[in-house]
Amino acid sequence: MIRTALVLLILVVPAARSAEPFGSTQDGKPVEVHTLKNDQGMVAKIITRGATLTELHVPDKNGKTVDVTLGFDDVAGYESDGNQYFGCTTGRVANRIGGASFTLEGKTYKLFANDGDNTLHGGGPRSLDKVIWKASPGESDQSIEFRYRSPDGEEGFPGNLDITVTYTLTNDNELRIDYKATTDKATPVNLTNHAYFNLSGHGTETVLDHELMIDADRVTVSDKALIPTGEIASVEGTPLDFRKLTRLGERIEPLIPTGAIGYDHSMILNGEPGKVRPVAKLRDPKSGRAMIILTDQRVVQLYSGNFLKGQKGKGGTVYPLRSAVCLETMGYPDAVSQKDFPSIILKPGETYTQTTIHRFTNE
Ligand code: GAL
Repeated sequence: MIRTALVLLILVVPAARSAEPFGSTQDGKPVEVHTLKNDQGMVAKIITRGATLTELHVPDKNGKTVDVTLGFDDVAGYESDGNQYFGCTTGRVANRIGGASFTLEGKTYKLFANDGDNTLHGGGPRSLDKVIWKASPGESDQSIEFRYRSPDGEEGFPGNLDITVTYTLTNDNELRIDYKATTDKATPVNLTNHAYFNLSGHGTETVLDHELMIDADRVTVSDKALIPTGEIASVEGTPLDFRKLTRLGERIEPLIPTGAIGYDHSMILNGEPGKVRPVAKLRDPKSGRAMIILTDQRVVQLYSGNFLKGQKGKGGTVYPLRSAVCLETMGYPDAVSQKDFPSIILKPGETYTQTTIHRFTNE
């Protein structure tokens, strides 16, 4: 009797965490997809290639659930040119490193130039978004850990870097991402997650009607290739002033003829770095879905999907220009080249940590 009840319970209650095969890479490595569920109907899926968030299902106030993040149905999609870092764990150094090199402790390191003369999001074929991570159960039954050892010299970076990224889906409708890294040689580390959000559901034509708030008084100034000049500017009186909830598309026009082609800016967050605090809010007036971002990081890269090009995504959808927005929490961009930017160097014996929370609500 008890046994039957137990079996029934297992059948009826969906598992909070499960894993399945997700095909394999072009060079034959198997990829797994891990699923997290909470008791509010939220579902997150993460694959072991790039510890990549591939799906995030979020209910609206009527309980209607849509997948709010861009992605592909299979590994081939993630390996294709259409993949512009969708949902991945980005690094070793997210954003750009000018001149694809840096000097640390008197030694110059040459990196892979994959964005003109510069390095974008960790460089070439073995940046963190492209390698296979090892998954294991996290501490709670709604969390999962992804581990990867990036060997000394990988993509030109010094030191064996041991990285853990833990995804947790809480019953308060939070997707929480915790990062940890240690090294055996001094090395730059700046990790982020590169999820593309559309709170009406991925494949909805535009995100310019979403409202955005970012608690940032200042922004880094960049050149045409989006490499920081070292200057810091106030957002006051500019289209980058998102201190009050503002429609994303309202002031984008003057930015389209610039190097950024829209919003592609490193917003310097107010508040104390190292403390998890609310820093941004994205709201979709149509569905009422809202996402609050809390982080202990110094910067949010606001990127309005200016390179999206109508590529085919999950379930036959297409992703046109500016049909999603990224809010990438991290350290300062190109901090290895700018002596006045806070350092992103991790030394042996230290632990890099980051916590970022995406809290979903309805308004
Ligand atoms: C963003 C970056 C953009 C673009 C994009 C990937 O993080 O700010 O300039 O490179 O990634 O397509």
